[in-house]
Amino acid sequence: MSEQPGGRPRPIPIILDCDPGHDDAIAILLAAASPAVDLRAVTTTFGNCSMEDATRNALRVLTLAGATDIPVARGAETSLRGDAELGNYVHGRSGLDGPDLPEPAFGASDLAAAELIERVVGASDAPVTLVATGPITNIATVLERGRVDRARIAEILFMGGSVDRGNHTPTAEFNAFADPEALAAVLGSGLPVRMVGLNLTHQALATPAVVDRMRAMDHRVGRIAAEWMGFFGSSYRAIWAFDSPPVHDPCTIAVLISPELIRWRRCFVAVETAGEWTRGTTVVDLHDRYRRVPNAEVAMELDADGYWDLVLESIDRLGRGR
Ligand code: BDR
Ligand code: CA
Repeated sequence: MSEQPGGRPRPIPIILDCDPGHDDAIAILLAAASPAVDLRAVTTTFGNCSMEDATRNALRVLTLAGATDIPVARGAETSLRGDAELGNYVHGRSGLDGPDLPEPAFGASDLAAAELIERVVGASDAPVTLVATGPITNIATVLERGRVDRARIAEILFMGGSVDRGNHTPTAEFNAFADPEALAAVLGSGLPVRMVGLNLTHQALATPAVVDRMRAMDHRVGRIAAEWMGFFGSSYRAIWAFDSPPVHDPCTIAVLISPELIRWRRCFVAVETAGEWTRGTTVVDLHDRYRRVPNAEVAMELDADGYWDLVLESIDRLGRGR
């Protein structure tokens, strides 16, 4: 964070592009709660559910957070290639199954996601960080349209890919698989890029102790977060035999608030767009075998205790209306 006149740290302007999704929902709560980030807009995409369901979920989560002044815009219904791989098998029919949520207290913008991103970036007093926690189609679309001043984009920080294993397929992570052409455009953009992949987010487990802390908050936001983890956890148990679910997406927001939570490696990253079995697989050249110019910072190690302290304190603050 840079400093404002008077010595106070300046919040980092961000746009959160997402497909809520239980872990996206926690990322929205964290971004809405933290004074260290300035959430300027939320844009939505297909992914965990249809784009329309993701938009409705984003509006409901922002309503729960009391953040009804954040503009929300609808984005991609399909990948750049025109297909729409959905993650309802993890997040349920609505994309955010589990507890009852408030009905949206406000509506989405008439602007499309790419247009809202262009406007917010263009009007910002400081370069804006684009955070993506779903298929990265909207951001690739903004780059392709070429209507933003690239110097006004501080960085693209995305959850997706992995250094090692996959989840949607044995080798490909879901967001990367859902739109590999879009991810390739981002990785080839020459802009500062940070990748938070499964190798990192599988360290962010919502253990029973974490969920107990949510439940013990004794307010609606804490109880809802605990129930989300219950639904998400049952998917992770049934599909991947995880004891506790990895809460992927808030890692992106957490590291903006507390940079010391993640250790990074700078290296070359590519994504497979053509493989018969490996489409959507990220290839992370940790040992410089390809001798390519590094194009990304890759998240390697998480301080999981620090992460949960931050996420839980933020949810608690939000739930208490502070
Ligand atoms: C990613 O896919 C979705 O299930 C989650 O919201 C996360 O963004 C993890 O592979
Ligand atoms: Ca997501």
